[in-house]
Amino acid sequence: MKHLIAPSILSANFANLEEDILMLNKSEADLIHVDIMDGVFVPNISFGFPVVAAVKNFAKKPLDVHLMIVDPDRYLKQFKEVGANIITVHYEACTHLHRTIQAIKELGCKAGVALNPHTPVSFLQDIIQDLDLVLIMSVNPGFGGQKFIEHTYHKIHQLKKMADEVNPKLMIEIDGGVSIHNSLALLKAGANVLVAGNAVFNSTDQAHSIAELKNISPDFLNA
Ligand code: DX5
Ligand code: ZN
Repeated sequence: MKHLIAPSILSANFANLEEDILMLNKSEADLIHVDIMDGVFVPNISFGFPVVAAVKNFAKKPLDVHLMIVDPDRYLKQFKEVGANIITVHYEACTHLHRTIQAIKELGCKAGVALNPHTPVSFLQDIIQDLDLVLIMSVNPGFGGQKFIEHTYHKIHQLKKMADEVNPKLMIEIDGGVSIHNSLALLKAGANVLVAGNAVFNSTDQAHSIAELKNISPDFLNA
């Protein structure tokens, strides 16, 4: 499968989101990554339902909603109602993760689990078969524009090995500090979805930056 690009609108221009969404529609982006932060699970607050609904109103690409919030079960239905296509919850925020994943699927969304940098991928051993997506945080969640954590490669290798055994269609998404400089290595390690905030929205030609990320091809994918 060719890898997917998911620009994160956390770094978009909130005073003119419409313009940025229209740019994404015309670009080679595959998904629109939507970061929800509650000021409790992470030390930052982003935006809530009205903003997601407004984005959905213009978006022609699926919304990939990353919930950095405590007790996400309380809000799954509302995120579905405002337009989420993929809902990803944090492993560290879910006591009954299996139940949460089933609830996301029952809403008709694809279900993902995100791992903080310190959370081992082996913790997913007994749930990986039920997941559509695993998001590996390659920075500590809460802010855009942070430095990529190099240990992430090790986690991607491990996750890819686990996925090949029981869930070969798993989406392996990398979030934080992704750029044109590390994306080829990330794909080679086994990632197939790249989130990019700063690398897209703080570039001079955003659609071109998306195209560059999309058109990176590891040799083995061309074979
Ligand atoms: C961080 C968010 C990311 C963020 C990535 O907590 O989950 O999606 O927007 O931004 P960059 O690509 O700038 O690191
Ligand atoms: Zn994110």
